[in-house]
Amino acid sequence: MTAIIDLQGVTSGHPGQKNIFQNLDFRLNQGDRIGLMGPNGCGKSTLLHTIMGLMPVRSGKIRLFGQAVQTESDFHAARLRLGFLFQHADDQLFSPSVLEDVAFGPLNQGLNREQAIQRARETLFQLGLEEFEDRIPYKLSGGEKKLVALATILAMKPEALLLDEPTTGLDRGTRDRIMEILNRLDDIAVLVISHEPDFLAEVTNTLVTLRNGCVVRCEATPHVHLHVHEGGAEPHRHE
Ligand SMILES: Nc1ncnc2c1ncn2[C@@H]1O[C@H](COP(=O)(O)OP(=O)(O)OP(=O)(O)O)[C@@H](O)[C@H]1O
Ligand SMILES: [Mg+2]
Repeated sequence: MTAIIDLQGVTSGHPGQKNIFQNLDFRLNQGDRIGLMGPNGCGKSTLLHTIMGLMPVRSGKIRLFGQAVQTESDFHAARLRLGFLFQHADDQLFSPSVLEDVAFGPLNQGLNREQAIQRARETLFQLGLEEFEDRIPYKLSGGEKKLVALATILAMKPEALLLDEPTTGLDRGTRDRIMEILNRLDDIAVLVISHEPDFLAEVTNTLVTLRNGCVVRCEATPHVHLHVHEGGAEPHRHE
């Protein structure tokens, strides 16, 4: 099977800094749903940046959709097929209106303006954001920005999703809505970074972490933990 993402022996680090990854191997195949956890600063966001061509690679090979990628134009083509959610929504939003921001990706993919606007409106509706289309992105609340940023990538109907902390700062209802949307997209590959084990248990089936600059599989697969305790008449779920 051709991997969607295939990193072989990748060594990378921020300019002028020591390596963050050393000879790192990582694959994301069609249908994979991988959760990535790990302490602050261990390199989770940097891994996604490396995959997206936003980090200088010192050695090793990256293949996306079966093609070796090296130059900016190689990565540009692959980025149109990958839905990458930045950890900070302000890095994702730059247009004068929410509708323009959400239509930007589909326009880049070659849809005409009318089609792109239509796609943007459908996506905003799916996320319950239809009232937001004329809002100025930088004036939205943190959670609203996060949802609009998610809309910008879902509007591209990506073949894989790379999500950097998609639920951080969101209320429980909104988080549940995101879970539902991700679980409905059950045919696409997902690599999601989160510090929330319950969220990862709902949307992924494999858990990995970064140790000494390498991706390692966690022994326990993500699961929802049910237990009984004093005062709890029935087994119930803790969030
Ligand atoms: N632009 C940068 N220049 C230099 N070093 C950086 C830069 N961005 C991040 N780093 C460093 O790279 C390391 C990995 O950062 P990264 O953002 O990938 O961590 P993370 O695992 O995503 O953390 P968090 O859970 O806090 O989001 C950290 O030590 C960080 O300080
Ligand atoms: Mg991060």
